[in-house]
Amino acid sequence: MKKNRLRALIDSAKHARQKAYCPYSRFPVGAAVLTESGRIFAGCNVENASYGLCICAERSAVFNAAVHGERGLKAVCVVGKSPRPCGACRQVLLEFSTKETDLFIVDLGQDARHETIIRTKVAKMLPLAFDPFEAGILPPNPQNLLQRRRSPEKKPRRRSAKKK
Ligand code: THU
Repeated sequence: MKKNRLRALIDSAKHARQKAYCPYSRFPVGAAVLTESGRIFAGCNVENASYGLCICAERSAVFNAAVHGERGLKAVCVVGKSPRPCGACRQVLLEFSTKETDLFIVDLGQDARHETIIRTKVAKMLPLAFDPFEAGILPPNPQNLLQRRRSPEKKPRRRSAKKK
């Protein structure tokens, strides 16, 4: 990805982080996704008194993109103090990712003044992910991009039972 595009993605996530509603955790997180059309959509974590209803910044960004008719993800960025996409977010991100979709984890450090960037792939964050193709639950005319995100990931080898 071009440097200035990555800069825009990080800045968008940082900006969204300022909007985080996190009175319970006091842990603001911002996220932004770059879609295949080249647009950027941001999200922040939004918490709730009923803790289980809190939503993470990453899902909030993906859903924001979906609301605008955008699904395919080129890159995802999350910004905070050592943020890490949770398991739920990894599965949700994967829905609209390909095996090429980049993930940038931007750690602002404890003083929130630094930027340490971990670059990886969304697909790498969830090995053995639940796959609707393998599970055979995808409708015949999926209105999404799953076809393209099929990864050539190797199937796990099954150990044959040893005869004694
Ligand atoms: N959180 C995110 O939004 N994204 C992450 O990558 C890590 C955690 C949120 C969830 C919750 O509102 C708060 O951070 C503390 O867990």
